Amino acid sequence: MSKRIGILTSGGDCPGLNAVIRGTVKSCAQLGYDCVGFLKGYEGLYDPVQYVQLTPKSTVGILNQGGTILGSTNKGRFAAVKGVEDRVEIAQHLVDGVKETVNQLDIDGLICVGGDGSLAIAQQFHEHGIPVVGVPKTIDNDLSATAFTFGFDSAIECATDALDRLHTTAASHERIMVLEVMGRHAGWIALHSGIAGGGDVILIPEIGWSYEHVCHKILHRESQGKKFTLVVVAEGAHLPDGGIVGEENAGRQIKLGGIGKAVTTEIERRLHREARLCVLGHLQRGGMPTTFDRVLATQFGAHAVRLVVEGRFGEMICSRPPEMTSVPISEAVHRVRQVDPNGPAVQAARALGISFGDRPADEVSHGVFDIKLEHLPENGPDNLLETAELAVEAALAN
Ligand code: F6P
Repeated sequence: MSKRIGILTSGGDCPGLNAVIRGTVKSCAQLGYDCVGFLKGYEGLYDPVQYVQLTPKSTVGILNQGGTILGSTNKGRFAAVKGVEDRVEIAQHLVDGVKETVNQLDIDGLICVGGDGSLAIAQQFHEHGIPVVGVPKTIDNDLSATAFTFGFDSAIECATDALDRLHTTAASHERIMVLEVMGRHAGWIALHSGIAGGGDVILIPEIGWSYEHVCHKILHRESQGKKFTLVVVAEGAHLPDGGIVGEENAGRQIKLGGIGKAVTTEIERRLHREARLCVLGHLQRGGMPTTFDRVLATQFGAHAVRLVVEGRFGEMICSRPPEMTSVPISEAVHRVRQVDPNGPAVQAARALGISFGDRPADEVSHGVFDIKLEHLPENGPDNLLETAELAVEAALAN
């Protein structure tokens, strides 16, 4: 009897899902396994069972396609419902139904491709004896067990392209441009695109900030003859009063979004300057995967098949360069990996003079790398704080 592997893609989509599917299917074929793809995430596993046969022939040409040919569901019957300690509890009849499907179709291993919430569902399947392995995906890059998730590189490519475009129009009109990016409660997308796209201010959930420091940076730039400023704000950044902006969703995670508007309005109010907002939204999740994401996703697909063949159920594949390894899914879920405020990327950004809104403009690089610069006067090279403060006063007087 032939061996068979099932695969599904669950949760929000991201570039690279099709590359995982293709990697899985081609590896299956090489190792003598059949492959079936369940449709619409976990929904296709039960009532009605919906799946397609996947072959190297039927998956030709999908490597560079965005989205997922299997479809995905974010808030279906298996969706995360807050239970004890935020644990996702799946109704017993659904678990039983999935078990029956897996048995009837002779599935030797079910590859579940998903983010934190989707992998928590896979973990429960595992606890009920269903042979699952996990593949992490999210544009947010916030899963603790893996150095990178595919989708992230494509998302920052998109956000960087947006910043490149905003740069030229901001410069032409001498405007402040605010770009709101996704990322949930981690600032990876804002940080990396902000560095790659020449952002001047980057606001992320991991670093508290104030409007005073943001405005100071803008005016400081003006005092240096730079009449425009690019502000990148992560959707999950906290407002100075600690609040986060989004729609509360009974029993589910908050739907983040809207902080860009608050930041833009307040900058305009404080500085009497023209500021414009661009909310990138789901553009970050669409389109072709980058080369990096194609390679990572393909490796995840092939190594997920390896986990099934090795009988390593309940584990999730993860990238820890130079290794492609795995960890128990239970260790991988519910642990958000946030930006280290003292990590190398933040340090480098500060060293370049990028503001995180947490310090006066002429102090953003102070103390970075712990180097003592004795040749600089206390307040920086040109007494810039004073210059910027005078500029604030002048702006408010206008
Ligand atoms: O987790 C990926 C992500 O795109 C987040 O960055 C964002 O907050 C969320 O999903 C948006 O979800 P939805 O597509 O359900 O609005």
